[in-house]
Amino acid sequence: MLTDPKKFIADTIREISGKVGDNDRVICAISGGVDSSTAAVLTREAIGHRLTCIFVDHGLLRDNEADEVMVAYKPFDMQIIRVNAADRFLDKLIGITDPEQKRKIIGREFITVFEEEANKLSVQTGNFNFLLQGTIYPDVTESGKDGAKTVKTHHNVGGLPDHMNLQLLEPLRSLYKDEARQVGEALGIAPELVWRQPFPGPGLAIRCLGEVTPLKLSLLRKADAIVREIIDGHNRYYFLLTGKPESLASVWQYFAVLPDIHSVGMQDGARTYGHAIAIRAVASTNATTANWAKLPYYILAQISQRITTEIPQINRVFYDITNKPPSTIEWE
Ligand code: XMP
Repeated sequence: MLTDPKKFIADTIREISGKVGDNDRVICAISGGVDSSTAAVLTREAIGHRLTCIFVDHGLLRDNEADEVMVAYKPFDMQIIRVNAADRFLDKLIGITDPEQKRKIIGREFITVFEEEANKLSVQTGNFNFLLQGTIYPDVTESGKDGAKTVKTHHNVGGLPDHMNLQLLEPLRSLYKDEARQVGEALGIAPELVWRQPFPGPGLAIRCLGEVTPLKLSLLRKADAIVREIIDGHNRYYFLLTGKPESLASVWQYFAVLPDIHSVGMQDGARTYGHAIAIRAVASTNATTANWAKLPYYILAQISQRITTEIPQINRVFYDITNKPPSTIEWE
């Protein structure tokens, strides 16, 4: 358990400096989430510009996310290279429907992209020796390491190929999400990054059930943007009225899922056979357990109304009312 974030920071900086030699260089998987941001800033403190961050846009990010992430990192004095690899990932996912296979393919491709970038950079500026990752404790336990049963293969643990020739650096491996946030705050990372909702490494691929196609991804992206916009808007409005941070502060994550089903509907008096969207919103403190969030009906009504009006291919919206366990937060 984390009792003193400042002490954790000092100890971890010492640990990283001890592990990474003076001539070693570190390459980092940066995603815009609190885990990788905190890991990167900690490592930046420890070894300065021997850290290079790679931001892979795998084409499975949310609406506008890649641009927003780049803007959010601007204040940090870190070398960040953005790689647009969307086509590569989508090609690899053609015909793949099994959730574990999707995760493994994405994890492998991620590492391949890193290695390629690291190789390119090392030709220019010298070799990399370490791969830094923002792995936190639940990623480790739920991927079947440390004696736990495999629930899902988290892409930043289970997807690592054996031939990888970079050593792993995982400074947050002992922390839960709320603890990683405390460390991020103590490091002075901007609240938008520290309080960002968790977003899985495999991205929208595991919220787009069945085969991932550009069309399904675009429907999911639009629906997800509506869900987040409405709930975020509600939170801001509540803050203006009450001065309290958020009425829905206990809601840990909210997002849309595109199940691989069609159902019959009606539009302008004619039969439709459209896609469906599920809304997932959960309350949790560290994601190991979660309760479905009791969102007010008027918010759910607004979400349903906007999704079906603005995305004509979607004719049904439903709300996921299952806790974790027996469900997980993500659908795949
Ligand atoms: P589940 O679905 O297992 O999710 O209840 C628990 C938390 O972890 C996030 N999640 C992931 N994060 N790589 C990640 O970095 C992954 O592969 C992954 N899968 C799930 C999920 O969003 C939730 O916050």
